[in-house]
Amino acid sequence: MASPAAGVVVIVGSGLIGRSWAMLFASGGFRVKLYDIEQQQVTNALENIRKEMTFLEQSGSLKGSLGAQDQLSLISGCLNIQEAVEGALHIQECVPENLELKKKIFAQLDQIIDDQVVLSSSTSCLLPSQLFAGLAHVQQCLVAHPVNPPYYVPLVELVPHPETAPATVDRTHALMRKIGQSPVRVLKEMDGFVLNRLQYAVISEAWRLVEEGIVSPSDLDLVMSDGLGMRYAFIGPLETMHLNAEGMLSYCDRYSEGMKRVLKTFGPIPEFSGATVEKVNQAMCLKVPVDPEHLAARRRWRDECLQRLAKLKRQMPSQ
Ligand code: NAI
Repeated sequence: MASPAAGVVVIVGSGLIGRSWAMLFASGGFRVKLYDIEQQQVTNALENIRKEMTFLEQSGSLKGSLGAQDQLSLISGCLNIQEAVEGALHIQECVPENLELKKKIFAQLDQIIDDQVVLSSSTSCLLPSQLFAGLAHVQQCLVAHPVNPPYYVPLVELVPHPETAPATVDRTHALMRKIGQSPVRVLKEMDGFVLNRLQYAVISEAWRLVEEGIVSPSDLDLVMSDGLGMRYAFIGPLETMHLNAEGMLSYCDRYSEGMKRVLKTFGPIPEFSGATVEKVNQAMCLKVPVDPEHLAARRRWRDECLQRLAKLKRQMPSQ
């Protein structure tokens, strides 16, 4: 059984992301209080987590050193926010992506938390300066942005408010490491953080290449899944440069002129509408029809691939 000293983590919002966080914190031996305004959401979340953990244990993919039953016993539902946050060391907010709603919840939490707890938002794209403006406990606040599905994709972007105390970021970094996630420090807030900026750069050029008739939508996706993506699961673009020549200096020496020449041909920001959206949609629907069964089946397949990839990455430590 986990040591009670591991501490209490509160999840605010028990939807898709809240459930994943609950499982991750329980895998690290933390007691988890899952809070929601909807009783039914909490009930569904606990049932869903029980099924998931049982499945993960059976398939040998359960994280942490505790068994599924012990991990499950660490998670409880809660409908009273005051009770939930008492004595907590970390609060992870996971309510829908709506600035006014999140600000309302942070203002409420600001009134009832102590000076020790870390207040963290899962937001995908709202900036800390908008979320935490005017809070008395702003030094204890930051964004910890996970990637879906967080149980298999470990990256977490830590984004501070300009007034966040460095100790808040350090503590959250250590906590994320403790539950097996892979935290990165975004040193200054920036729209889209880092992951989505990279993702949008790729989507943008993918769209232009299809729009200009250079490649079909399905072949474009293959370039990533059977090309770039193969090594990006293990090394990033900068290390790729370093390894693709005799080090970074040699790479820049050899390839910078070519890169700049190609980059100058990049077009403007796409509109993501009109004939191109129809063309891309048609290709995607041919592959995965847009009905709940096909979408769910394809997502299950994707998650199984990610689960196996996560296993492989554990067997191939980077250092
Ligand atoms: P969701 O809609 O699945 O879950 C939201 C939950 O919050 C629901 O259970 C709802 O009942 C609850 N809720 C609503 N108002 C509340 C309140 N006042 N107090 C407590 N609980 C309340 O949303 P999801 O997808 O889990 O997203 C949560 C956050 O995580 C969002 O900020 C989203 O941008 C972020 N995120 C989502 C990712 C995704 O792929 N879904 C990936 C990374 C971050």
